[in-house]
Amino acid sequence: MAKYLVTGAAGFIGRSIAAALIARGDSVRGIDNFLSGKRQNLIGLEEMEFREGDLRKYATCASVCRGVDTIFHEAALVSVPQSVADPITANAICVDATLNLLEAARETGVRRVVFAGSSAAYGDSETLPKHEAMLPNPISPYASAKLAGENYMRVYARIYGLETVVLRYFNVFGPYQDPTSHYSGVMAIFCRKMLAGEQITIFGDGEQSRDFTYIEDVVLANLLAASAPADKIAGQVMNLATGGRVTLNEIFETLSSLTGYKGTPEYAPPRSGDIRHSLADICLARELIGYQPTIDLQEGLRRTVAWYRAAGI
Ligand code: UD1
Repeated sequence: MAKYLVTGAAGFIGRSIAAALIARGDSVRGIDNFLSGKRQNLIGLEEMEFREGDLRKYATCASVCRGVDTIFHEAALVSVPQSVADPITANAICVDATLNLLEAARETGVRRVVFAGSSAAYGDSETLPKHEAMLPNPISPYASAKLAGENYMRVYARIYGLETVVLRYFNVFGPYQDPTSHYSGVMAIFCRKMLAGEQITIFGDGEQSRDFTYIEDVVLANLLAASAPADKIAGQVMNLATGGRVTLNEIFETLSSLTGYKGTPEYAPPRSGDIRHSLADICLARELIGYQPTIDLQEGLRRTVAWYRAAGI
């Protein structure tokens, strides 16, 4: 039976991929250093062989890759402002660790690596929707580091024949996203604060927009990328999103009605490194892996609010 490795397995996206693999009966190993991952995210994943460790150490990568067929590389420092505050750590986590993992994968005979890329690679280009043929234009340390990881993926496919594939995520949201740090994703922060009746802050005028993608579709695309024929995906980079966008002000309105929030947002200056608009062209993922989003924004938000309400975080 093929063995899967999920890095960042105690994080939001990693644990969701691991849960889906376990649910279909696959054999899964997970690794996390708990820098941003949470131990409670491992609840329900008891069938996973879990290792606590840091991919910035090559020996850890070599040991965790042994016997693995396919890797889902989700471990990262995921916050743009956090990368602005500490670019060296962002680079170590997103670039050094990724190169270590690729080299260990090559050395131990791993067949495929599915990598969590980021739409941040496109930066602030005016063109919408963003498509893969556009020149990257990173505007934060986070975006540069994620793009470097992508480039290593392509090089390892080309030079060493590793079947690497990059999914450029656009603002993923849903159950298990950590809402407790000011570096957390906006949906998680808003859901938690609005359910608790706390003040929320919108950075900028709230007219910035994002292509918010529900976690279940991200998991789906990862599974498709893991099983697609090598000649279709090896060395490829593709957007993973919905092909629709919504402003933060609109999100606020929808979440107000779903949570019963009565407050108004406080507006603060935009964050440094923030991009204005984000919208994906998802044709390539449709063509290469047969991806089609299944959960629309309204339904995703409804499920997400229900989850935070039940979790009581
Ligand atoms: C997000 C992801 C990043 C991913 C990228 C892909 C997180 C933490 N970041 O970056 O990993 O690669 O999408 O598109 O998941 N905002 C507020 N109030 C808040 C928090 C945020 O107004 O309390 C604003 C931000 O200034 C920004 C927008 O909401 O304009 C989205 O911010 P955030 O959720 O941090 O995501 P991105 O920076 O888009």
